[in-house]
Amino acid sequence: MSWSPSLEHDTVLVISFGGQYAHMISRRVRDLGVYSEVLPYTLASEEAVKSRKPKAVILSGGPSSVYELDAPTVGDWVLRLDVPVLGICYGHQLIAKLSGGSVERGVGEYGRTRVALAERDPIFDGWGDEEDVWMSHSDYVASVGPRGRVLARSKETGYVAAMKVGDRVYGAQFHPEVRHTEKGLKLIANFLFRVAGARPTWRVEDLAERLIDDVRSRVPPGEKAIIAVSGGVDSTTAAVIARRALGDRAVTVFINHGLLREGEADEVLSSLRSLGLDPIYIDASQRFLGALRGVSDPEQKRLVVGRVFAEVFEEVARSDPSIRWLVQGTTYPDVIESGAEVGADRIKSHHNVGGLPEKLGLKVIEPLRYLYKDEVRRLGLSLGVPEGIVLRHPFPGPGLAVRIIGEVTEEKLATVRRASRIVEEELRRTGLYDKVWQAFAVVGDDRWVGVKGDRRAFGYIVTVRVVESEDGMTADWVRLPYEVLQRIASRITSELPQVTMVTYAITTKPPSTIEPV
Ligand code: XMP
Repeated sequence: MSWSPSLEHDTVLVISFGGQYAHMISRRVRDLGVYSEVLPYTLASEEAVKSRKPKAVILSGGPSSVYELDAPTVGDWVLRLDVPVLGICYGHQLIAKLSGGSVERGVGEYGRTRVALAERDPIFDGWGDEEDVWMSHSDYVASVGPRGRVLARSKETGYVAAMKVGDRVYGAQFHPEVRHTEKGLKLIANFLFRVAGARPTWRVEDLAERLIDDVRSRVPPGEKAIIAVSGGVDSTTAAVIARRALGDRAVTVFINHGLLREGEADEVLSSLRSLGLDPIYIDASQRFLGALRGVSDPEQKRLVVGRVFAEVFEEVARSDPSIRWLVQGTTYPDVIESGAEVGADRIKSHHNVGGLPEKLGLKVIEPLRYLYKDEVRRLGLSLGVPEGIVLRHPFPGPGLAVRIIGEVTEEKLATVRRASRIVEEELRRTGLYDKVWQAFAVVGDDRWVGVKGDRRAFGYIVTVRVVESEDGMTADWVRLPYEVLQRIASRITSELPQVTMVTYAITTKPPSTIEPV
């Protein structure tokens, strides 16, 4: 068996009833220094849970109702584990149901809600008698079962806000993992340290040597590993690990698909060189743009980019028969999601080199498979990856092809490239770049009549999108100051004569996605 952090660290198991809720909880636990893993409820049999020897178990929230037909559930063995259990939102309701209490459809509590403690318990250390918490539910726990005690109630509705069943099982109707629950992190810390006695040994900065050793021990002498880098933090950090582990036997490839941002190819190349990665650089722009000609369907564009990428990569990989391994920068949420996360619909087919390892007979190594993005960033910094890469906004694999609605043409590409650079420059100038998740421009086929000088022109509409997000799963648009918006709009229309209108995208995710395509 290969190395896993759970072999060395106290591990909290988060049983997932809905992907994003579970990951948010798991990240908070890790931020408190305790390693955690997410297990989809479909895989959470009694044996699977016990065999992982968790120090504590958390049942996540989720979008279902416990009384729906086929509602996601786990067996009532979860009440009899010999480690503490905490159910959050849906998990709380599930514990009530499994322990003989009742759950009913109520008036719904959404957003900031005041709760009052009914009983003092170590899990509430540091809490006042009343606190504001974040709720998002319409089902509620109407009564606790015979072994249950109410620990807190909502002030307004009287619903059970927290309960304890026996002496180790807790439920919280509110979300301690979201920042709007002011003492939420305190509650999670109490659960981990006071209730479960977990040791906070998880520090991502200590991990580099471990990961390097693991790669080194898997690739036998005489064999090589190949890795495609994009200049993003994940692939770059994975490449640095591979390089430290294997030296020249780690082959780094940087493929320019012609869909990069302004100046990006040069910046990426010089960063990679400064890290000693000595990449093979392939400018395949014309090949990609040729293949994209006439393609306007969003999914088709992604598939075309993925296919051409795979072809180019395959040519490099086949050129050296000692290449037997493929290193990928896959991170933890993708590992969990690709495994068995049922019910989580794939909204867009994300571009990756899927299918290639089998085709080329390469064995896959994913050094970052246990880590969240913010952990990869910290690890990257500890390995000397430049801040420019670590703090760079996420950029989709298919590049600007997903920021152009309709066919990718040279003119639209030039427009979106320049406009995006202007958005970035203005955010950097005002110190906002590092405070937002992503900031970019989009162009499509809609037109707007404009007056340039004394001529009327039927020009492009450029849409600016600036969002904040914790993980890209949900997002809110950033309330940019009017002056910043004004400056972005006037620079775009004056520097790009083909643009006659600039709009600002003000829809959250959901219902929108972050990228337009
Ligand atoms: P959406 O648009 O689905 O994006 O809200 C969520 C996050 O994922 C990024 N994204 C992609 N990343 N290949 C990628 O590698 C893709 O095809 C892709 N599509 C979206 C997006 O930039 C955002 O951070």
